[in-house]
Amino acid sequence: MPQLNLILLGPPGAGKGTQAERLVDDFDLPYYATGDILRAAVKEESELGRKANEYMDRGDLVPDEVIIEVVVDRIDQTEAEDGFLLDGFPRNVEQAEALDGELKRLGRELTAALLIEAADDEVIRRLSGRRVCVKNSHLYHVDFDPPKREGVCDQDGSKLIQRDDDHPDTVKHRLEVYREQTSPLADLYDARGMLRRFDGARPTTEVHDHIRATLAVLRRESEL
Ligand code: AP5
Repeated sequence: MPQLNLILLGPPGAGKGTQAERLVDDFDLPYYATGDILRAAVKEESELGRKANEYMDRGDLVPDEVIIEVVVDRIDQTEAEDGFLLDGFPRNVEQAEALDGELKRLGRELTAALLIEAADDEVIRRLSGRRVCVKNSHLYHVDFDPPKREGVCDQDGSKLIQRDDDHPDTVKHRLEVYREQTSPLADLYDARGMLRRFDGARPTTEVHDHIRATLAVLRRESEL
């Protein structure tokens, strides 16, 4: 089976985490979401968490040297030999170059960059209503995808919380950071013929069907 080495790109709130949950089931890939990894480190009060905390609360990117090592370690694991799904990395050109370097060292290459697009006002609406399961990061939205019991995760019964950086002013700052530092990566991967675009404003199931179909074609093409 050919490798599926994938990255998810898109503004905060476009639905990267929502789609990742589904794609991981479809393609049985290890999933590395740098935001989730960093939030877990903050909760554990580990050294990584202490370094990252103040940047995350402001909606800024944590320094490259802090995050690159975390990702490089993961894709070098046996579980990622047949592929991986990276969410939230790379976030700028330096991180993209670091990923290229690591994949080259491992004799591998990226299969595709999946860009989920969404407009600013939609993102703000989504993030202000997002609720996250404290235990396994399952995602809900108070209006679009509410849990059966308010404040309780349907999947594991854990408490649902609102992320500190989902308050409207911090979301606006995250969008600025995305525009300045992350959105140039779309052109970079497009120029390499690796970019696949998806309309994140469509219903969740439609976005999922579109991504899944695209990946199935990519996998078939690489088998030929
Ligand atoms: P991170 O956790 O990566 O946040 P983000 O990129 O801002 O993305 P989000 O998780 O907020 O959004 P999402 O697109 O996954 O949307 P979701 O599926 O939840 O990063 C957080 C912080 O960590 C950063 O600010 C930074 O400080 C640090 N960091 C992380 N990586 C870093 C790196 N590489 N370098 C430096 N710093 C780094 O969906 C949102 C809501 O919308 C949900 O409620 C969902 O139910 C709903 N929804 C989703 N899809 C749909 C749909 N189609 N229709 C209607 N509702 C939908």
